[in-house]
Amino acid sequence: MTSKSAAAVNPREASLRSVDPEIDRAIRAEIGRQQGTLELIASENFVSEAVLEAMGSPLTNKYAEGYPGKRYYGGCEFVDQAETLAIERVKALFSAEHANVQPHAGAQANLAAYLALMPPGSTLLGMALAHGGHLTHGHKVSFSGILFKAVQYGLSPETGLLDYDQVLRLARESRPQVIVAGASAYPRFFDFQRLRSIADEVGARFVFDMAHVAGLVAGGAHPNPTPFADVVTSTAHKTLRGPRSGFILCKNEFAKAIDKSVFPGMQGGPLMHVIAAKAVCFREAAAPEFRVYARQVVANAKALADGLMKRGYRLVTGGTDNHLLLVDLRDAGFSGADAENALHAAGITVNKNAVPNDPRPPAVTSGIRIGSAAVTTRGMGEPEFHRLAGWIDDALKRREEAASLMKIRAQVEELCRAFPLYVNRSL
Ligand SMILES: Cc1ncc(COP(=O)(O)O)c(C=O)c1O
Repeated sequence: MTSKSAAAVNPREASLRSVDPEIDRAIRAEIGRQQGTLELIASENFVSEAVLEAMGSPLTNKYAEGYPGKRYYGGCEFVDQAETLAIERVKALFSAEHANVQPHAGAQANLAAYLALMPPGSTLLGMALAHGGHLTHGHKVSFSGILFKAVQYGLSPETGLLDYDQVLRLARESRPQVIVAGASAYPRFFDFQRLRSIADEVGARFVFDMAHVAGLVAGGAHPNPTPFADVVTSTAHKTLRGPRSGFILCKNEFAKAIDKSVFPGMQGGPLMHVIAAKAVCFREAAAPEFRVYARQVVANAKALADGLMKRGYRLVTGGTDNHLLLVDLRDAGFSGADAENALHAAGITVNKNAVPNDPRPPAVTSGIRIGSAAVTTRGMGEPEFHRLAGWIDDALKRREEAASLMKIRAQVEELCRAFPLYVNRSL
C-alpha cells in the first residue's frame, strides 16, 4: 500500500496563473510589451520557444557541481549529455579548442577568465566604459577595477575609432598581465591581429569579450576572434539569441585554468536548465538560416544608420559594421535621456548611452545606442528600418508633443502586429 503525504498532494501541477496571479500578470504584461513595441536595445534579442522550453525545464532541479563525467553529485547522466552537447556545439560554432559553458552570465565569464590568467593585484588593460567598453573591463566600481590595477584605453577624439597607438603606448607603460578588448557600444570591427601583436610585445595574455557580436561571428557576418585571442568570453543572450548566460572559449593551453577558475573558483552548481538552453541556441546558430539572420542584422543596422545620417544625425564613427549604432546628440540641444524618454513614448525602446568625450553625466548622456538584432528576429528588413529612421527622427523632433508621439506609437503597434512574436502565448 502507498500513502501520499500532505506535501505530495500540494497543487504542483497547477498553472502559474492559479498559483501566483501577481507574477503571472507581470509576465503576461512583459510579453505584451515585447510584442507591441520595437525593441532596439542592442544587447537584447528574442529567444525561440525551443530555448524557452529548455530553460523552463526540470533540469533546474539538478545539482551538478563539477564537469561532465567528473561530478560531485549522483544522477548526473542526463545533464552530462546536455552539457557535453553544449560544449561540442559551441566549439564547432566558433572553431575553439576548448569551451566552458558554465558561467552564469557575461560578467562571471570575464571574472573567471581574468582569475585564470593572473592573480588579484595584477594589471588589466581594457577599454573604458565611457568609450564603449564594459564595466567588467576595468571600471573602478566593478570587480575588475577593484581586484586589478586597471588601466583604460579609448577612442581617438578625431576619428571616434579605437586608438591602437594609445593601446600600445599604455601597454608598454603599464606592462599588463591581460589586455581585454571587445565592447558594449562600439560599432566597428576590432583589429584582432593588431591587439594580438601588442599583447605579444609586452608579454600579456589577450582576452576578447565578444558578448555583443557573438551571433554575428557565429553567422559569418563578423570576423572570429577565436584564432587570435588566448581566451574569448561571451554572453549567449545578445546577437547569439540564446538564454541569459555566459560562456568561455580558449586555447587548450588554458583549458585547465579556465575550468578551475569557473568551478570551484567562482561559481557553485551550474544552471543545468540554462546550459541545456545554451545547447539549443548553439544548434540554432549553426543552421544555415542563422547565417541569413546575421547578415540581415548588419544590413538592417546599416539601413538605419543611412536613414538617420540622411536626416542630419551624427553617428559615432560615421556608421556601423555590426548590429549597433551610436547617435551623437551633443549638438542636438537635448540629451540621451530626453531621447530615450521620447522614443519610449512612441513605442520604440533604446537606451541612452555616453558618447566619446560626453559632457553630460552617465545618468543623462549625450547619445543613444540603437541595435537591430531583436527586431530582425521578428523578420523585419531594410524597408522597415527605413521607416523606423523616419519615426525616430519624428519622435525626437516632436519629443515634447504627446499627441505626435502617440500617433507614431499607433504606427509602431501596427508594424509590430505585422511581425508577430510569441504567437502561441495568450495575454
Ligand atoms: C561586452 C560585454 N561584456 C560583458 C557583459 C556582461 O554580461 P552580463 O550582463 O550577462 O553579466 C556585457 C553586457 O552588457 C557586455 O556588453
